[in-house]
Amino acid sequence: MRLAGRAKAGFYPTPPRVTQLIAQHLKASQPTHLLDPCAGEGEALATLALHLKASAQAIELSKERAARCRKQGLRTFQGDSLTYRGAGFGLLYLNPPYDDGFQERLELSFLKHWTPALTADGVLVFLIPERILPRVSEFLTAHYHSLLALRFPQPEYRDFQQVVVFGCRRKEPAPPQPLEVEGVLGEAHTARVYALPPSPAAFVQPRGPEPEKMLEMVEQSPLWRHLYQRDSAHFQPLLPLKDAHLALLIAGGLLNNEVIRLEGEPYLIQGQIQKQVQCLEEERENYTAQIERETFVMSIAALNLWTGALHTLK
Ligand SMILES: C[S@@+](CC[C@H](N)C(=O)[O-])C[C@H]1O[C@@H](n2cnc3c(N)ncnc32)[C@H](O)[C@@H]1O
Repeated sequence: MRLAGRAKAGFYPTPPRVTQLIAQHLKASQPTHLLDPCAGEGEALATLALHLKASAQAIELSKERAARCRKQGLRTFQGDSLTYRGAGFGLLYLNPPYDDGFQERLELSFLKHWTPALTADGVLVFLIPERILPRVSEFLTAHYHSLLALRFPQPEYRDFQQVVVFGCRRKEPAPPQPLEVEGVLGEAHTARVYALPPSPAAFVQPRGPEPEKMLEMVEQSPLWRHLYQRDSAHFQPLLPLKDAHLALLIAGGLLNNEVIRLEGEPYLIQGQIQKQVQCLEEERENYTAQIERETFVMSIAALNLWTGALHTLK
C-alpha cells in the first residue's frame, strides 16, 4: 500500500452479522473490560460491549473514525495504537490493518504488541486473512491456549477470506504448535464459548507524549527548515538536543500517518529506523579480525499531499 493511501485505507469493518456470530462465542459473568486497538468506527466493539455488559476502550488512527467511536459512547484514544500500551483487559478484539510492516506483517506486530494488555486467561478475538494464519500461528500457540480458528461464513468470506481466531492468554509461554482452521463461524459443531475473566481495572496509556501535543511541537520544529530552502547548498546543522529528541521520536513512528501543516501545506509523515550491518576487517597482531558493526539509520518521509512531492529527511 502506498504511503499516501495508508491513513485512509485499511478500514475493513467487521460485518455486523459476523460480529453477532462472534458474540455468541463470548460470555462474561463478572465485570470486565474490552479493548479494540484498531477500532475503526467502533461498531463491532460497541456491539460486544452491549452483549457482554462490559466497559470498552478504543484506539483508532483516523481522526474521523475515532470521533465516530466516541459517538458510540466508547472511551477512545486517537493515534497510532503501537505508541500506546495497556494492561488488565478481559477481552482483546483485534482486527488490525492487513499489510506488510518494515520487518514483519502488521497483523503479527499488533498481536505481539497488544497481547500483554490481556490479563491471564483473557480472551483474544483476532480477525485476519486466512493466508496470514501460518505467519502468526507460532506466536499464537506459544502465548494462547484453547485456540479455535474459524472461517467467516459466506458471503462475507468471499471479500477478504478472513478467519477469526479465539484463544485465551497463557500465564507462561509454551512451545509453539501447528494451528489449523477447524470450521466455519456459525456452524453448530464449532460453538465453543469463551468465558471472559473478571478484570476489575484496565488502562490504556500513551507510551510517549500525546500526539496532539507532539503535532504542535513538530510544526514549530526547525527540522523542516530545509524543505523551504531547497536551493540552499548547506542544510541546518544537526538539531539542538531537545529537537533531536523530537526527531528521534518522529523517526520512531510516533507521528506515523499524521498530517501536519508546514507553511500552510499538508504533509503526511512516516518515520523509520533501520538497522544496518557493516562488515569490517581489522588487522590484529597475528590475524585479521572480521567485525560486524551495527548502526541505526533514522529517516523521516514527508509526503506533500498537495503536490505529491516526497521528501526524505535523514
Ligand atoms: C480492519 S479495520 C477494523 C475496524 C474494527 N475493529 C472492526 O473490526 O470493525 C482496521 C482499523 O485499524 C485502523 N488502524 C490502522 N493502523 C492503525 C494504528 N497504527 N493504530 C490504530 N488504528 C489503526 C484503521 O484506520 C482501521 O480503521
